[in-house]
Parts: sequence; C-alpha cells; structure tokens
Amino acid sequence: MKALILSGGAGTRLRPLTHTNAKQLVPIANKPILFYGIEAIRDAGINDIGIVVGDTAKEVEDAVGDGSRWGIKVTYIKQEAPLGLAHAVMISEDYIKDDPFVMYLGDNLLKGGIKDFVDEFHQNTPDSQILLAKVRNPERFGVAEIDEGKVVRLVEKPKKPKSDLALVGLYMFDKSIFKAVKKIRPSWRNELEITDAIQYLIDNGYRVESHIINGWWKDTGKLEDMLEANRLILDTLKMKIDGIVDSESKVEFKVVIEKGAEIIKSVIRGPAIIGKNTKIINSFIGPFTSIEHDVRVENSELEHSIILEGSSILRIGKRIGDSLIGKNVEVYRSEKRPEFYRLMLGDYSKVGVF
Ligand code: G1P
Repeated sequence: MKALILSGGAGTRLRPLTHTNAKQLVPIANKPILFYGIEAIRDAGINDIGIVVGDTAKEVEDAVGDGSRWGIKVTYIKQEAPLGLAHAVMISEDYIKDDPFVMYLGDNLLKGGIKDFVDEFHQNTPDSQILLAKVRNPERFGVAEIDEGKVVRLVEKPKKPKSDLALVGLYMFDKSIFKAVKKIRPSWRNELEITDAIQYLIDNGYRVESHIINGWWKDTGKLEDMLEANRLILDTLKMKIDGIVDSESKVEFKVVIEKGAEIIKSVIRGPAIIGKNTKIINSFIGPFTSIEHDVRVENSELEHSIILEGSSILRIGKRIGDSLIGKNVEVYRSEKRPEFYRLMLGDYSKVGVF
C-alpha cells in the first residue's frame, strides 16, 4: 500500500501568509501541519509516500526531504497547476501503479491517526473508503447524502447542503479511481473534483464504503480553523522545560519551553509552546499560544495566537489575541511622533484595532 499526500493548492484563504509560504507548512504547536499527516501515515504502517506539490514545491521539499527522518521514502510529484484533487490523482498513476492507496490532504489534521481506517480497508477491500464528519458549515465541503447507511450522492460545496456530513480529507482507493478521474469533467471552479470521481464509482456499481468519524478533524484552510487546530494540539502537550526560566517568572499548566529559549520576568500560562532561542521578556503569554523559534516578545501580552519564526512583538500596550503572525514580522509601539499607526502590510493582510 502507498500513500499520496496533496500539498499543492494556492491557500487563498490564508493570504498573505500563503503568498510566501505553503499552507501545509504553517506550524501547529511549532510543527508543520504536513508533518502530522506524514507521521499518521507512517504510524499506519505505510512507508512509501508520494507528495503532490505545486508552486510551493521547493519549500515543501526543503522541509520534508527524502523522508529518511521518519524512516519512509518520499517521492515528489509535480502538479503544474492547481487543477483539482482528482487531477492530482490522475498525474500520480505512474507512481501509484496498481497499489491500493490512501490519499491525505496535507492541510487536514486528524486526531487519533489513520491506522484504524487503513486496517479496515485491508479487511473489507472495497474499491473506495471515505470518511465523513458532522460539521456546522457543510457548504464549505464535499457533502454526502446517506440512505440506509449507504452513500448515494456526493456534492462538492453545495449551496443548499442536503446533510451536515462533510467529506474528510482522507480517502482510500484501489486502481478503479484512475478510471473514474479520467471520466469526469471540471466543476464550476474549474477543478477535477475527487468528489465527482467518487460519485462516478458509486454510479457505476463500485463498492464505496463510508464511516462517520467521532474524533476531531480539522481542515486548516482558514485562520479560525488554524487557531482551533493549534488549541486542540496544544492541549495534548505535557509540561517540558528545556529552556531557561528566571526566578521572577511563572510558568503554569501545560507549557513546553524549547532549548535555548529564555523566559525573563514573564508569565507563561499554558497550554503554550515557546520555540528554540525565543526570548520572552517582561510579558504575558496566555493559553493556546504557539511561538516559534527566534522570536522576541518584550513588554507585551499575547494569547490564543500563532507567531512564526524570527518575529518580534515589542511594547504593545494592548493584548494581542486570535492572531496569526508570519515570519520575520515586526509589531512594535513606536516612540516617534506623530502618534499614529505606521503600517507596511503585504497584500491581503488583515489588521484589527480596537
Ligand atoms: C477539499 C474537498 C472537499 C473536502 C475538503 C476537506 O476541499 O474538495 O470535498 O470536504 O477538501 O478538507 P478544498 O480544500 O479543495 O476546498
């Protein structure tokens, strides 16, 4: 069995971060989302993984390498344009050959791994196996209609969803999917939808099994989802302090402080993670915050946020919350007059002031 991870896509809902970064590499609790997927696949006993990459190919390849770090073999498959998930399957046929495979969307996070799902596929050997989850906003997903326990219809992002069951970004296929992806036509968003390809299997008498998952699952395509995923993962951390905490600081609840980090005259209230060589000085870091390596926070307060490497947050009088701050960003209170906001923001940036 092989695995195919899709790590292309434009990530438009996470701009401006995705102008310069692959959305699958945004860190959740200081680890790229994509790595959670790779580890889940490896833990299900699959060592041969193809990663479909797009415009951010180089960045993904630099981060993942040849897979030896996880004891797996990684093959990169270049998708020239984001023409859909079924298109990604189509161009991966030479790599997959006749093997059954699991397809994992690189921006999805599933707690509890995928082993049970893979084992079940081995036992029942259907042509395809899909996962469904109850959601509040089904119009954002592929939606399944079930009749007497069987999937009868799958519709991609319906305006009027007929159920609240969304397709989770984890699918299992045998080689029949290669026939299906060649038969379908592009959707209104000009993509070859995997949802339509699975519908083709259903319509043509192939066996498609489905399961509703109980554990949590997140598609991290938007800021709120990213913060929620970060919350859920941080909550599973155990206290671990490898950095320095001075005698005037307090570290409470589940907090990870990585090597070389320094906490000076500050309060860190977990769940939170502070990355390597980051300095927190005279500040408060509140629950559900992930701060990557080489960040400086001074005379500021932060909570429920993700701060990427190399950034600095200095002398901010109000607490920063619900925020995602990219790499090498500077947020500071200016001491220069006149007193106004001086902004230099990338395209599609969002700033909320109160
Ligand atoms: C894709 C699929 C959709 C599925 C979702 C899960 O959507 O097309 O059916 O429910 O992933 O994350 P996209 O992320 O391309 O909008």
